[in-house]
Amino acid sequence: MDFNDKVILITGASSGLGAATAIYLSKLSAQLALVGRKDPNLKRIALYCEKSKGIKPLAITADVTEELDAERIIKETVDHFGKLDVLVNNAGVIGMGGVKNSSMETYDTVMNTNMRSVYHLTMLATPHLISSKGCIVNVSCIASSKPSTMALAYNISKAALDHFTKCVALELAPDGVRVNSVNPGFVKTNLLKGIGLTDDQLALFVANVVGNMPMKKAVEGDEVAALIAFLASDKAKSITGSNYILDGGSSLR
Ligand SMILES: NC(=O)c1ccc[n+]([C@@H]2O[C@H](COP(=O)([O-])OP(=O)(O)OC[C@H]3O[C@@H](n4cnc5c(N)ncnc54)[C@H](OP(=O)(O)O)[C@@H]3O)[C@@H](O)[C@H]2O)c1
Repeated sequence: MDFNDKVILITGASSGLGAATAIYLSKLSAQLALVGRKDPNLKRIALYCEKSKGIKPLAITADVTEELDAERIIKETVDHFGKLDVLVNNAGVIGMGGVKNSSMETYDTVMNTNMRSVYHLTMLATPHLISSKGCIVNVSCIASSKPSTMALAYNISKAALDHFTKCVALELAPDGVRVNSVNPGFVKTNLLKGIGLTDDQLALFVANVVGNMPMKKAVEGDEVAALIAFLASDKAKSITGSNYILDGGSSLR
């Protein structure tokens, strides 16, 4: 696989799966536009990517939930590179609780980040993706299809994202634009850092999650990055509207 001359925009590239995907794609010669809120982290990942093949990524410090920021993300990318080939909607947050113990603030934060911003960025990117016959990869989760009680807003945000993926795939298929999602199981990233557990509690929680996974191991960021790269590549030229589970068998039970 080679992404020479391909312009790939990745949201949430300052940490976790987005950073892993940026690094993976930098090794395949992609021209990267990387988005995150924490500027030092974003710059660190951008520098790391540049070292792969000497191609300098465009680092855009922005909040995807802010409409003006979303407009700036697409504008800066297209102004800088002249086009957009691939949009990776990866930025996401988790919020804990269900109907008994959640809040509307949690609902709004999670839905605004995981779904509303994706809707908006996709709308803004669409004319450019039609021009380039490009594609979209959304980062969903197995929580989209596997009911669980801990993070209701997160689960339904990802269920909405899967359906969004299919609807937009259908809409844009005649334009030659493909749209798919990757749906990982548990990966060790910073996602759970904000859920209000101490480090010890978090370590115990993670050990439990991994212990309950059929393969007894977490998915690795590199594996998710490789699947995103495949779906973004010409090797997947007839794949659109699919939600790809990568979870070490977690969704089987
Ligand atoms: N880890 C898992 O087990 C797992 C499993 C399935 C799916 N996922 C999905 O994978 C995606 C990435 O999560 P992760 O696990 O890599 O978590 P992470 O390490 O916490 O990374 C989340 C990324 O999203 C960015 N982000 C969050 N809100 C943002 C906003 N409003 N504007 C711009 N950037 C924002 C963060 O940027 P800053 O840090 O700079 O703010 C960070 O780069 C999410 O969509 C998540 O739902 C994760």
